[in-house]
Amino acid sequence: MSILKIARMGHPILSVEAEPVSDPEAPEIHSLVSDMKETMLDAGGAGLAAPQVHVPLRIVVFQDPLITSNSNGEEVDSILTLINPKIEILDSEYNFGMEACLSVPGLVGEVPRAKKILYSGVDLKGKLIEREAEDFHARVVQHECDHLDGILYPMRMIDLSTLSFSSEIGHFSQNKN
Ligand code: NI
Repeated sequence: MSILKIARMGHPILSVEAEPVSDPEAPEIHSLVSDMKETMLDAGGAGLAAPQVHVPLRIVVFQDPLITSNSNGEEVDSILTLINPKIEILDSEYNFGMEACLSVPGLVGEVPRAKKILYSGVDLKGKLIEREAEDFHARVVQHECDHLDGILYPMRMIDLSTLSFSSEIGHFSQNKN
């Protein structure tokens, strides 16, 4: 495993539409996902998308709020891998919340996101994953999937006056995606 370099806003890889993964079980995909997880943990992020590590494929990883331990109480991998994800909006109500991004270091901003979504995709074995998510988890998944379409959170902002350096508002709760 290795820690990968994260592309920052302005790098063209962050603007392209990523390609679907044809074989989720391919060794190079497993290797990439291992590196993405390690990179995300090292950077203290809540999620990471493959284009952020210069790979234009439709893969995202994010903290999975549903997994904290297995039935034996042992800690297990708490990062979910979602390949070729799709999002369906279940609740047209939008929440506003502060977001940060590992590709937009140092900044935070208020972003509207659908409150409730159904997300789906496949895991590293090609097995279907389908889940409903609300609030913060729904926000993280929407943020990560936006990366696959070349969208960074500032492009979703309505009120740019909320775009701030996190060091200036350090007491705000925030998560980096
Ligand atoms: Ni991000």
